[in-house]
Amino acid sequence: MQRLKLKLKDGMRGASLNDLYGIFFEDLNHAADGGLYAEMVENRSFEFEPVDHPGYEETYSWEISDPKAAQVCTKQPLNSNNPHYLEAKTTKDALVIVNEGFNHGMSFQDGQSYRFSLFAASRNKSIIQVFFENEDHEQVSETSMIVVKDDKWQKYELLIRSEQTTVNGKLVVKVLPDANVSLDMISLFPEETFKNRKNGVRKDLGEILEEMHPKFMRFPGGCLVHDGTLDPDDRESMYRWKNSIGPVEQRPTRRNKWGYNQSLGLGFFEYFQLAEDVGAKPLPVLPGGYDPHHKRAVPIDELQPWIDDALDLIEFANGSSDTKWGEIRTKLGHPKPFNLEYLAIGNEEVGQDFFDRYPYFHKAIRERYKNIKLINTSGPFASGSEFRRGWASANHNGSNLVDEHYYMTTDWFLANQHRYDDYDAHGPKVFLGEYATKDNQWYSAVVEASYMIGLERNADKVGLACYAPLLCNVAFPNWKPDLIYFNQHDVSPSLNYYVQKIFMNFQGTYDVPYSIDGLPKPIVKSNEPITGSFGFEADHATIEYENLTFTDLKLGQKQIFGSGHLTDSEKINIDETNTSQYKISFDAIKTGGRVDKGFKLIFGKKENSGHFSWVIGGWENQDSIIEQRNLHNQQSVWDQAQWTMVENTQYHFEIVVKNRHIETYIDNVLMNNAEIKPTVIESLYSNMTFDEKLGKYYLKLVNVTSQSLQLEVDVTKFQDGKYHELFSSPKTKNEIGKPNKLTIQDTSKLKPTVHINPYSVNVLVLQPKSN
Ligand code: AHR
Repeated sequence: MQRLKLKLKDGMRGASLNDLYGIFFEDLNHAADGGLYAEMVENRSFEFEPVDHPGYEETYSWEISDPKAAQVCTKQPLNSNNPHYLEAKTTKDALVIVNEGFNHGMSFQDGQSYRFSLFAASRNKSIIQVFFENEDHEQVSETSMIVVKDDKWQKYELLIRSEQTTVNGKLVVKVLPDANVSLDMISLFPEETFKNRKNGVRKDLGEILEEMHPKFMRFPGGCLVHDGTLDPDDRESMYRWKNSIGPVEQRPTRRNKWGYNQSLGLGFFEYFQLAEDVGAKPLPVLPGGYDPHHKRAVPIDELQPWIDDALDLIEFANGSSDTKWGEIRTKLGHPKPFNLEYLAIGNEEVGQDFFDRYPYFHKAIRERYKNIKLINTSGPFASGSEFRRGWASANHNGSNLVDEHYYMTTDWFLANQHRYDDYDAHGPKVFLGEYATKDNQWYSAVVEASYMIGLERNADKVGLACYAPLLCNVAFPNWKPDLIYFNQHDVSPSLNYYVQKIFMNFQGTYDVPYSIDGLPKPIVKSNEPITGSFGFEADHATIEYENLTFTDLKLGQKQIFGSGHLTDSEKINIDETNTSQYKISFDAIKTGGRVDKGFKLIFGKKENSGHFSWVIGGWENQDSIIEQRNLHNQQSVWDQAQWTMVENTQYHFEIVVKNRHIETYIDNVLMNNAEIKPTVIESLYSNMTFDEKLGKYYLKLVNVTSQSLQLEVDVTKFQDGKYHELFSSPKTKNEIGKPNKLTIQDTSKLKPTVHINPYSVNVLVLQPKSN
């Protein structure tokens, strides 16, 4: 077994880690409604509409015993933001309306109380009973009663105790005979929420976030923020934070980009509160007046309300109670400021439209609040012309940070371990606002850990980093993998979660110089030229191609393959090559199919190692992309440029491959230019930091290999030490409802030799001897 030696180097202090590791909350996968937000009733205000999701209508999620006795009305609403309500008119029989929550069952705990509330207005004396049932329709709580006599909307509240534990519970609201009553905002929360906040978040989910000790919390998205229309009063508007504060019954409901409804019950006040409760700095993201999904742009001379949203948000968070927005915060229950330091304008926007608008936000915010750290954005990919456009804008405007996003294979992360070594420490810092490998297997988590070593080693260039997405209700996945899975009663952190947690728990204040002697040489896993078969793949667009020509650039020989036709998801294999330098050229026209789609040229395809694609009209037909797919069809993007394939227009396409270098041209204009880095596996990834507050060193050791290692530590230099180990076999995954499969071992006595397990993530905590 390889024996290594740790040596501390005296004197120098490395880069500060500041707020490096945080979390990113976005309401996708039902992370807010039906997730973190502790509301148990789905569609509490009868506002679900097909605009949110094709299967929705106003009584979605409600079981109504007699639909004739219960009509959804809009005549006399609770308020104009909440237009729909249920009018119940009973004669001889009672009307029973039942809600089973988001996951086909509510979780009730024996002996625990739940806060029930509704708004009602009655044209006579109407009596309503409320109780809980289990899956066998047995009543599992006492019956509580509400008598409604007032014809004006009033709020009624009850505390109901469950007398049984069930995960398939239902809320039953029974309108007794001879009633004529309007009902709205029928709501149920556990009495105990995280930090016992009213309108708060689920205790179990809040706690699991708090246990990570994140330094910051990015919210509320993601694409959620910028996908929408420009009018804040529109049902489908972009996320406008002012809609999300104040009494919940007055907040308008909105379409969620991820195909469901967002009640906005978990709004900006709750997000700020949550950040504070988990000990994180808030990091809100605001739309920059541009929706890249639908190319909706606010005219520049109409940007002021959007800029005001940003300025007002800063005042809302930080202003004293005698400012307009500080007073609103105070009235909402938080007189002290939330100490906002970071603000992001935009989320992975592409296109000049956004970058024409960003400077207006930047300038106005800088003028009034010079200490706010402003975050610009560099698109959804790790490289390419849009990525460079974001960085150029950040450099030009003097943004403090640039938001980078990438979701890639483990091989990509291993190939890019040194990505930040060459970044400029004096320019804007990186905010790695979204990243993840493509899996929740332990191997993926270990590779993420190895990559995080590179982030903290480069803390002078990387300011902030957070894994994405954070939460997923297992019944509603929009995006996988995620960090934490849950249903109505259970929480199942992924193995990736434990990596994030250990890195956050032992972040440290600054890097310290050290060395580890005796490390075996890195292994280069793939460095061969990109050769193999090539062909086309349709992507729901209809394509006619002609003049398809393959040129061996080494021999100067051409092969003509002529013309063809592609449709739906058809695949055509053309030929294969083993020459290391070649060109493929063709002309093509899109004649039909989906507007948001194009096609792919597949190349470098080998049976045992996946393939490359030139994606022509990728990402909603807005991009030209060079991607690599492994044998599990997991994708890494190596280069992206903005480009749209217009129907019935002929284009000339050319791709030139030289060893591992790829260039693409459309109509002789360079589109993509990518060097495919080889996957390199180092025998150990490590970084050492010092925690100034606790006076301890943290040495993180990540082993992505199947080999064990031994590390010798000079124990005479330390008065105490602890060793925290996470390990498992590479394919292990956690499953909801099953115990955690990761081995977590903590040793509290310092030993001269530390054993580093195969596929392990470890932190050695060392307390130096005081002089
Ligand atoms: O994290 C999921 C999505 O990925 C985010 O909404 C978006 O920013 C990115 O494309």
